Amino acid sequence: MKWKLKVYLTSSYYKRTVFSTVENYFIMNTPKAIIFDLDGVLTDTSEYHYQAWKHLADDEGIPFTQEENDAHLRGVGRRDSLMYLLKGRKVSEEQMQEMMGRKNRYYTELIKNMSPKEVVAGGVDLLKEIRQAGIKTAIASASRNTTTVLQRLEITSYFDGIADGNSVVNGKPAPDVFVFAAGIVNTSVVDCLGIEDANAGIEAIKAAGMMALGIGPKERFPKADKVMDNLENKNLQDLLA
Ligand code: BG6
Ligand code: MG
Repeated sequence: MKWKLKVYLTSSYYKRTVFSTVENYFIMNTPKAIIFDLDGVLTDTSEYHYQAWKHLADDEGIPFTQEENDAHLRGVGRRDSLMYLLKGRKVSEEQMQEMMGRKNRYYTELIKNMSPKEVVAGGVDLLKEIRQAGIKTAIASASRNTTTVLQRLEITSYFDGIADGNSVVNGKPAPDVFVFAAGIVNTSVVDCLGIEDANAGIEAIKAAGMMALGIGPKERFPKADKVMDNLENKNLQDLLA
């Protein structure tokens, strides 16, 4: 457990919370912006990404497991994911482009019938509550399918800014997409809380200088400031407490 001390200085919703760990000591005001990863946080598309990579791996006769996906591909962009999957096999740039395109066709087929029902339970209420509290909301996703997924889920209008796989050159764990998202919503990185289901994403958030909330098993996120199993039916106070 990383959280060694948690002191509520006031009981108000806008309380200041003191977070202390052995390595860090800092005070976080209620964030001015909350920056969400998309796949695996607001919806379970991470499972579809895995199925699409698995399909490609099977086509190519490459062994590939869900455990490997979680450890090496979760949150990671298309090219870096393929580089891992190839496991040292030598392929030309043309073959790489073809395989990335094929994986994306498998993935887009899987998300074709997505609907608002696939937003995490209580997700829309949480986004509304955050905005009503005067906190900005943004997306920082590695995916180039972000706009499509947000549209299928019918949640685009709940975000003040969207940064995705088309916004930056360096993917997670580089901080770029989170810094870009903070810029879109005109908020300093120190006033942002980033939320991620991938360790690569938590590393990106911490490298950006933000507070980091991990969604998933604790062991996945050695650097997260706080971890929750999932985002289901959570309210703003649950995220900040
Ligand atoms: C991330 C997913 O959000 O986006 C990864 O967690 C995925 O699994 C990455 O590889 C890139 O997505 P896309 O849609 O551009 O291939
Ligand atoms: Mg994710």
